[in-house]
Amino acid sequence: MARRKHGSGKASRGNRINAEAHALTLAVEIATAWHRGGGADRPEVPLGVPATIAAAGLLVDRTADVAAGMKSASPESFIDIARSVWAVTFSRRPDVAMSVYPLLGWLFADADGASVRQIKATADAALRAGLLEVTTTERRFDCDVFGALLGALRSRTATKVNAQMYTPGDIACALAAVALDDLEPGRSFCDDAVGTGGLFRAAVCLIRSRGLDPADMSWFGADVDDLAIAAAAVNGLIWGLGPRVYLYVGDILVHPHWSDEARARRARFLEEVDSLNNGIKVLDFLKSL
Ligand SMILES: C[S@@+](CC[C@H](N)C(=O)[O-])C[C@H]1O[C@@H](n2cnc3c(N)ncnc32)[C@H](O)[C@@H]1O
Repeated sequence: MARRKHGSGKASRGNRINAEAHALTLAVEIATAWHRGGGADRPEVPLGVPATIAAAGLLVDRTADVAAGMKSASPESFIDIARSVWAVTFSRRPDVAMSVYPLLGWLFADADGASVRQIKATADAALRAGLLEVTTTERRFDCDVFGALLGALRSRTATKVNAQMYTPGDIACALAAVALDDLEPGRSFCDDAVGTGGLFRAAVCLIRSRGLDPADMSWFGADVDDLAIAAAAVNGLIWGLGPRVYLYVGDILVHPHWSDEARARRARFLEEVDSLNNGIKVLDFLKSL
Protein backbone atom coordinates (compact mmCIF):
# COMPACT_ATOMS: atom_id res chain seq x y z
CA MET A 1 0.00 0.00 0.00
CA ALA A 2 1.43 3.36 -0.99
CA ARG A 3 2.35 5.66 1.88
CA ARG A 4 1.71 9.34 1.71
CA LYS A 5 0.88 12.18 4.01
CA HIS A 6 -2.78 12.55 4.69
CA GLY A 7 -5.17 14.96 6.20
CA SER A 8 -3.80 18.08 4.59
CA GLY A 9 -7.24 18.83 3.20
CA LYS A 10 -5.61 19.65 -0.12
CA ALA A 11 -6.92 18.10 -3.30
CA SER A 12 -5.04 15.10 -4.62
CA ARG A 13 -3.43 15.54 -8.04
CA GLY A 14 -6.10 15.39 -10.72
CA ASN A 15 -9.02 15.81 -8.33
CA ARG A 16 -11.23 18.78 -8.87
CA ILE A 17 -12.26 19.36 -5.28
CA ASN A 18 -10.76 18.23 -2.02
CA ALA A 19 -12.09 15.06 -0.47
CA GLU A 20 -13.99 16.71 2.39
CA ALA A 21 -15.78 19.06 0.01
CA HIS A 22 -16.53 16.06 -2.19
CA ALA A 23 -17.98 14.21 0.83
CA LEU A 24 -20.26 17.16 1.63
CA THR A 25 -21.44 17.34 -1.98
CA LEU A 26 -22.13 13.62 -1.95
CA ALA A 27 -24.09 13.94 1.29
CA VAL A 28 -26.31 16.63 -0.21
CA GLU A 29 -26.82 14.71 -3.48
CA ILE A 30 -27.69 11.46 -1.70
CA ALA A 31 -30.01 13.08 0.86
CA THR A 32 -31.72 15.09 -1.89
CA ALA A 33 -32.23 12.00 -4.07
CA TRP A 34 -33.71 10.13 -1.12
CA HIS A 35 -36.09 12.91 -0.10
CA ARG A 36 -37.12 13.70 -3.68
CA GLY A 37 -40.47 12.03 -4.23
CA GLY A 38 -41.34 12.18 -0.55
CA GLY A 39 -38.65 9.94 0.94
CA ALA A 40 -39.66 8.72 4.37
CA ASP A 41 -37.76 9.88 7.44
CA ARG A 42 -35.74 6.66 7.54
CA PRO A 43 -32.09 7.75 7.45
CA GLU A 44 -30.95 4.12 7.68
CA VAL A 45 -31.95 3.58 4.03
CA PRO A 46 -30.05 6.49 2.39
CA LEU A 47 -27.10 5.57 4.66
CA GLY A 48 -27.32 1.86 3.89
CA VAL A 49 -27.50 2.29 0.12
CA PRO A 50 -24.15 4.14 -0.23
CA ALA A 51 -22.68 1.85 2.44
CA THR A 52 -23.55 -1.06 0.13
CA ILE A 53 -21.89 0.64 -2.85
CA ALA A 54 -18.79 1.39 -0.77
CA ALA A 55 -18.65 -2.24 0.44
CA ALA A 56 -18.97 -3.45 -3.16
CA GLY A 57 -16.10 -1.18 -4.20
CA LEU A 58 -13.87 -2.75 -1.55
CA LEU A 59 -14.54 -6.28 -2.82
CA VAL A 60 -13.24 -5.87 -6.37
CA ASP A 61 -10.21 -4.36 -8.09
CA ARG A 62 -12.06 -2.66 -10.92
CA THR A 63 -14.44 -0.20 -9.29
CA ALA A 64 -15.52 1.02 -12.74
CA ASP A 65 -17.18 -2.38 -13.19
CA VAL A 66 -19.01 -1.98 -9.88
CA ALA A 67 -20.32 1.42 -10.91
CA ALA A 68 -21.35 0.24 -14.38
CA GLY A 69 -23.01 -2.94 -13.04
CA MET A 70 -24.99 -1.10 -10.40
CA LYS A 71 -25.99 1.76 -12.71
CA SER A 72 -27.35 -0.59 -15.36
CA ALA A 73 -29.16 -2.86 -12.86
CA SER A 74 -32.93 -2.66 -12.54
CA PRO A 75 -34.20 -1.48 -9.13
CA GLU A 76 -35.05 -5.08 -8.18
CA SER A 77 -31.67 -6.41 -9.37
CA PHE A 78 -29.93 -3.70 -7.38
CA ILE A 79 -31.46 -5.17 -4.19
CA ASP A 80 -30.23 -8.64 -5.23
CA ILE A 81 -26.74 -7.26 -5.88
CA ALA A 82 -26.83 -5.53 -2.49
CA ARG A 83 -27.67 -8.81 -0.73
CA SER A 84 -24.73 -10.51 -2.48
CA VAL A 85 -22.36 -7.67 -1.55
CA TRP A 86 -23.16 -8.04 2.15
CA ALA A 87 -23.16 -11.83 2.00
CA VAL A 88 -19.57 -11.76 0.71
CA THR A 89 -18.53 -8.95 3.06
CA PHE A 90 -19.91 -10.78 6.12
CA SER A 91 -18.39 -14.09 5.07
CA ARG A 92 -15.02 -12.29 5.29
CA ARG A 93 -15.78 -10.09 8.29
CA PRO A 94 -18.72 -11.47 10.31
CA ASP A 95 -17.96 -9.07 13.18
CA VAL A 96 -18.95 -6.14 10.94
CA ALA A 97 -22.48 -7.55 10.60
CA MET A 98 -23.15 -6.94 14.28
CA SER A 99 -22.76 -3.17 13.93
CA VAL A 100 -23.89 -2.62 10.33
CA TYR A 101 -27.25 -4.40 10.43
CA PRO A 102 -29.31 -1.30 11.43
CA LEU A 103 -28.49 -0.01 7.93
CA LEU A 104 -29.75 -3.12 6.16
CA GLY A 105 -33.45 -3.53 6.96
CA TRP A 106 -34.34 -2.57 3.38
CA LEU A 107 -32.56 -5.70 2.12
CA PHE A 108 -35.13 -7.86 3.88
CA ALA A 109 -38.27 -5.76 3.61
CA ASP A 110 -41.00 -6.58 1.14
CA ALA A 111 -40.71 -3.11 -0.34
CA ASP A 112 -43.27 -1.85 -2.85
CA GLY A 113 -42.22 -0.82 -6.36
CA ALA A 114 -42.04 2.88 -5.51
CA SER A 115 -39.73 2.27 -2.53
CA VAL A 116 -37.44 0.02 -4.56
CA ARG A 117 -37.24 2.66 -7.30
CA GLN A 118 -36.43 5.29 -4.68
CA ILE A 119 -33.62 3.11 -3.31
CA LYS A 120 -32.23 2.72 -6.82
CA ALA A 121 -32.52 6.47 -7.49
CA THR A 122 -30.51 7.09 -4.31
CA ALA A 123 -27.86 4.61 -5.44
CA ASP A 124 -27.69 6.24 -8.87
CA ALA A 125 -27.23 9.67 -7.27
CA ALA A 126 -24.39 8.34 -5.11
CA LEU A 127 -22.66 6.74 -8.10
CA ARG A 128 -23.16 9.83 -10.27
CA ALA A 129 -21.65 12.05 -7.56
CA GLY A 130 -18.53 9.87 -7.42
CA LEU A 131 -19.00 7.95 -4.17
CA LEU A 132 -16.50 5.26 -5.15
CA GLU A 133 -13.80 7.90 -5.71
CA VAL A 134 -13.84 8.77 -2.02
CA THR A 135 -14.37 5.26 -0.65
CA THR A 136 -11.97 3.14 -2.70
CA THR A 137 -9.06 5.34 -3.79
CA GLU A 138 -6.36 6.92 -1.62
CA ARG A 139 -8.80 9.80 -1.15
CA ARG A 140 -10.81 7.61 1.23
CA PHE A 141 -8.37 8.50 4.00
CA ASP A 142 -9.04 12.20 3.52
CA CYS A 143 -12.74 12.33 4.38
CA ASP A 144 -15.67 10.78 6.22
CA VAL A 145 -18.51 10.52 3.72
CA PHE A 146 -20.82 8.78 6.19
CA GLY A 147 -20.29 11.42 8.87
CA ALA A 148 -21.25 14.11 6.37
CA LEU A 149 -24.23 12.05 5.21
CA LEU A 150 -25.54 11.28 8.70
CA GLY A 151 -25.26 15.00 9.49
CA ALA A 152 -27.26 15.84 6.35
CA LEU A 153 -29.95 13.28 7.17
CA ARG A 154 -30.46 14.15 10.82
CA SER A 155 -32.91 16.89 11.69
CA ARG A 156 -31.64 20.06 13.37
CA THR A 157 -33.39 19.07 16.60
CA ALA A 158 -31.79 15.63 16.71
CA THR A 159 -28.42 17.25 16.07
CA LYS A 160 -28.88 19.47 19.11
CA VAL A 161 -30.09 16.66 21.37
CA ASN A 162 -27.07 14.41 20.95
CA ALA A 163 -24.50 17.12 20.14
CA GLN A 164 -23.90 15.31 16.88
CA MET A 165 -21.54 17.87 15.43
CA TYR A 166 -18.56 15.92 14.20
CA THR A 167 -15.05 17.31 14.50
CA PRO A 168 -13.92 18.86 11.17
CA GLY A 169 -11.26 16.73 9.49
CA ASP A 170 -8.38 19.20 9.71
CA ILE A 171 -9.01 19.83 13.41
CA ALA A 172 -9.22 16.09 14.09
CA CYS A 173 -5.87 15.62 12.30
CA ALA A 174 -4.28 18.45 14.30
CA LEU A 175 -5.57 16.91 17.55
CA ALA A 176 -4.24 13.48 16.57
CA ALA A 177 -0.82 14.91 15.70
CA VAL A 178 -0.55 16.56 19.13
CA ALA A 179 -2.05 13.72 21.21
CA LEU A 180 -0.53 10.63 19.59
CA ASP A 181 3.22 10.61 19.84
CA ASP A 182 4.02 7.02 20.81
CA LEU A 183 2.63 5.05 17.89
CA GLU A 184 3.52 1.39 17.62
CA PRO A 185 1.77 -1.78 16.43
CA GLY A 186 -0.62 -3.19 19.03
CA ARG A 187 -1.67 0.16 20.42
CA SER A 188 -5.35 0.71 21.33
CA PHE A 189 -7.40 3.75 20.38
CA CYS A 190 -10.58 4.61 22.24
CA ASP A 191 -13.31 7.18 21.57
CA ASP A 192 -16.31 7.02 23.90
CA ALA A 193 -18.36 9.37 21.74
CA VAL A 194 -17.11 8.01 18.45
CA GLY A 195 -19.86 9.20 16.09
CA THR A 196 -18.93 7.88 12.65
CA GLY A 197 -15.25 7.65 13.63
CA GLY A 198 -13.81 11.01 12.56
CA LEU A 199 -11.10 10.90 15.23
CA PHE A 200 -10.20 7.35 14.19
CA ARG A 201 -9.69 8.62 10.64
CA ALA A 202 -7.31 11.28 11.91
CA ALA A 203 -5.36 8.63 13.83
CA VAL A 204 -5.25 6.46 10.70
CA CYS A 205 -3.73 9.34 8.73
CA LEU A 206 -1.03 9.74 11.34
CA ILE A 207 -0.38 6.00 11.60
CA ARG A 208 -0.02 5.64 7.84
CA SER A 209 2.19 8.72 7.57
CA ARG A 210 4.59 6.96 9.98
CA GLY A 211 4.68 3.87 7.74
CA LEU A 212 2.52 1.79 10.14
CA ASP A 213 -0.65 -0.18 9.42
CA PRO A 214 -3.93 0.75 11.19
CA ALA A 215 -4.93 -2.94 10.99
CA ASP A 216 -2.20 -3.73 13.53
CA MET A 217 -3.97 -1.57 16.14
CA SER A 218 -7.13 -2.07 18.27
CA TRP A 219 -10.04 0.33 17.99
CA PHE A 220 -12.72 0.90 20.65
CA GLY A 221 -15.66 3.21 19.92
CA ALA A 222 -18.98 3.83 21.70
CA ASP A 223 -21.98 5.89 20.76
CA VAL A 224 -25.59 6.06 21.85
CA ASP A 225 -26.64 6.35 18.18
CA ASP A 226 -26.82 2.96 16.45
CA LEU A 227 -26.71 4.55 12.98
CA ALA A 228 -23.49 6.40 13.84
CA ILE A 229 -21.97 3.12 15.07
CA ALA A 230 -23.12 1.36 11.89
CA ALA A 231 -21.47 4.09 9.81
CA ALA A 232 -18.31 3.80 11.94
CA ALA A 233 -18.22 0.08 11.15
CA VAL A 234 -18.44 0.80 7.40
CA ASN A 235 -15.73 3.42 7.82
CA GLY A 236 -13.64 0.80 9.59
CA LEU A 237 -13.65 -1.20 6.36
CA ILE A 238 -12.96 1.86 4.22
CA TRP A 239 -10.07 3.09 6.39
CA GLY A 240 -8.59 -0.37 6.92
CA LEU A 241 -8.92 -0.48 10.72
CA GLY A 242 -8.50 -4.25 10.57
CA PRO A 243 -10.05 -7.07 12.58
CA ARG A 244 -9.75 -5.64 16.11
CA VAL A 245 -12.62 -3.13 16.00
CA TYR A 246 -14.88 -3.11 19.08
CA LEU A 247 -17.96 -0.94 18.67
CA TYR A 248 -20.57 -0.40 21.34
CA VAL A 249 -24.08 1.03 21.08
CA GLY A 250 -25.14 2.50 24.41
CA ASP A 251 -24.95 5.34 26.87
CA ILE A 252 -21.43 5.50 28.27
CA LEU A 253 -22.64 7.43 31.32
CA VAL A 254 -24.76 4.43 32.28
CA HIS A 255 -22.15 1.88 31.12
CA PRO A 256 -18.73 3.30 32.03
CA HIS A 257 -17.12 -0.14 31.47
CA TRP A 258 -18.51 -0.32 27.97
CA SER A 259 -15.25 -1.46 26.36
CA ASP A 260 -15.36 -4.76 28.30
CA GLU A 261 -19.00 -5.14 27.32
CA ALA A 262 -18.11 -4.39 23.68
CA ARG A 263 -15.55 -7.22 23.68
CA ALA A 264 -18.04 -9.60 25.32
CA ARG A 265 -20.91 -8.71 22.94
CA ARG A 266 -18.65 -9.17 19.92
CA ALA A 267 -17.42 -12.54 21.19
CA ARG A 268 -21.01 -13.72 21.81
CA PHE A 269 -22.10 -12.56 18.36
CA LEU A 270 -19.18 -14.30 16.66
CA GLU A 271 -19.93 -17.51 18.58
CA GLU A 272 -23.51 -17.37 17.33
CA VAL A 273 -22.55 -16.85 13.68
CA ASP A 274 -19.59 -19.22 13.83
CA SER A 275 -21.72 -22.24 13.06
CA LEU A 276 -23.45 -20.49 10.15
CA ASN A 277 -20.42 -20.72 7.86
CA ASN A 278 -21.23 -18.26 5.11
CA GLY A 279 -22.49 -14.77 4.44
CA ILE A 280 -25.93 -15.75 3.15
CA LYS A 281 -26.62 -17.48 6.43
CA VAL A 282 -25.34 -14.45 8.32
CA LEU A 283 -27.88 -12.36 6.39
CA ASP A 284 -30.63 -14.81 7.38
CA PHE A 285 -29.45 -14.59 10.96
CA LEU A 286 -29.57 -10.77 10.88
CA LYS A 287 -33.08 -10.91 9.44
CA SER A 288 -34.18 -12.93 12.46
CA LEU A 289 -32.82 -10.43 15.00
C1 LIG B 1 -19.68 15.75 19.00
S1 LIG B 1 -19.97 14.10 18.40
C2 LIG B 1 -18.29 13.58 18.29
C3 LIG B 1 -18.04 12.47 17.32
C4 LIG B 1 -16.58 12.15 17.07
N1 LIG B 1 -15.87 11.81 18.30
C5 LIG B 1 -15.89 13.32 16.39
O1 LIG B 1 -15.09 13.99 17.03
O2 LIG B 1 -16.13 13.55 15.19
C6 LIG B 1 -20.58 13.40 19.88
C7 LIG B 1 -21.15 11.98 19.77
O3 LIG B 1 -21.37 11.52 21.08
C8 LIG B 1 -22.57 10.76 21.10
N2 LIG B 1 -23.06 10.78 22.48
C9 LIG B 1 -23.61 11.83 23.16
N3 LIG B 1 -23.90 11.46 24.43
C10 LIG B 1 -23.51 10.16 24.57
C11 LIG B 1 -23.53 9.22 25.65
N4 LIG B 1 -24.02 9.55 26.84
N5 LIG B 1 -23.06 7.96 25.44
C12 LIG B 1 -22.56 7.62 24.21
N6 LIG B 1 -22.51 8.48 23.15
C13 LIG B 1 -22.97 9.72 23.33
C14 LIG B 1 -23.48 11.42 20.09
O4 LIG B 1 -24.45 10.52 19.59
C15 LIG B 1 -22.47 11.88 19.04
O5 LIG B 1 -22.36 10.94 17.97
